[in-house]
Amino acid sequence: MLASGSVGAPMTADATPAGELARRLAAPPARLSLASLPTPVERIPALDVRGAEVWIKRDDQSSGLYGGGKVRKLEWVLANAPFDGDAPIVSIGGVGSHHLLALALFLREQGRSLHALTFTQTLTPHVRSNLAVLVSSGARLWNVASRARLPLAWLAYHAWRRPERMGVPMAAGASTAYGCFGFVEAGLELSAQIDAGLLPVPRTIFITAGSAGASAGLALGLALAGRPMRLHLVSSVERWAFNGIMYRRMLGAAHRALVRHGLPAEHAAGGAGGLLARAGVTWLIDHSQVGGGYGVPTEAATRALADAASQGLRLETTYTAKCMAGMRRALEREPVEGPVLFWNTHASNDLGALVREGWEADCPPGIL
Ligand SMILES: Cc1ncc(COP(=O)(O)O)c(C=O)c1O
Repeated sequence: MLASGSVGAPMTADATPAGELARRLAAPPARLSLASLPTPVERIPALDVRGAEVWIKRDDQSSGLYGGGKVRKLEWVLANAPFDGDAPIVSIGGVGSHHLLALALFLREQGRSLHALTFTQTLTPHVRSNLAVLVSSGARLWNVASRARLPLAWLAYHAWRRPERMGVPMAAGASTAYGCFGFVEAGLELSAQIDAGLLPVPRTIFITAGSAGASAGLALGLALAGRPMRLHLVSSVERWAFNGIMYRRMLGAAHRALVRHGLPAEHAAGGAGGLLARAGVTWLIDHSQVGGGYGVPTEAATRALADAASQGLRLETTYTAKCMAGMRRALEREPVEGPVLFWNTHASNDLGALVREGWEADCPPGIL
């Protein structure tokens, strides 16, 4: 049997949601209360690089059920159409996807189901553990051998005989415009923590990027807070899968949604680019850590993971350890004097109790 996790918060959408972003919008969309916010900020001197003093944003502690960045997105995504009903959701990702895992666990709390179109990725122990929980959660998988073959999973899904309702399609990583709202809120949250003296103003924020909802929301949130900042986005995927064009598109979609919900006119002019430029928020995309491709561990990431683990931080080699490796490389090449912030987007929850014995038998062939 599955042990039940505890969200510790109501699953009903709040029509007049709490939070700083909602206060800044004339007509905020609904929001679920799924996350434990704000997440702490912590200084870890053992991770310093040259003159840079490393601070960590502990989003790994954002939920008792399953933390990391995804729960911030799901608070908004699952509260609004078309994902707010009781229908299943269909979404895509690698077999070790944190997005699919988060979605499966939070949908299960709502008595709903996940249809997962997956692709096989390098089966690290971490990926295998995520897959074990995903399958144990009751999610149904349609798996293909590689990312390039995902359209075949989509075809197989549609050829399915449909004993259940078909799922409502959700973008990879829950990176919809509403998904970004979770990280707009995160930017406002960080700014309030700086105001409260919990950390100094970072010279640079390092955050990993895949489907880009997290980093796009964060840039907009910092801009709304009027906080000039440099964002260093360490990509976990190849250039064709994430680049400046895609990032601008994500920023634009999220900004338009903010405007639709009553963003004050002073922040609406000139689109997302105008807002960021007025606030002095800048960004760059760093593909130096992609290595052999999405989900393929690199030596630098494996080293970063071990060093972080020695300081009590649980990273993984698909996103966050590559981000820490990218941060180290950047700070070695262009030293920074003073504080920098590493945004830890990976959940630290121990999910061992959620794994059902014999889960392997329910796993599609060819993955294990
Ligand atoms: C642990 C972790 N961090 C960061 C990201 C990247 O977030 P985004 O897809 O919004 O760029 C992901 C995406 O799945 C993730 O699993």
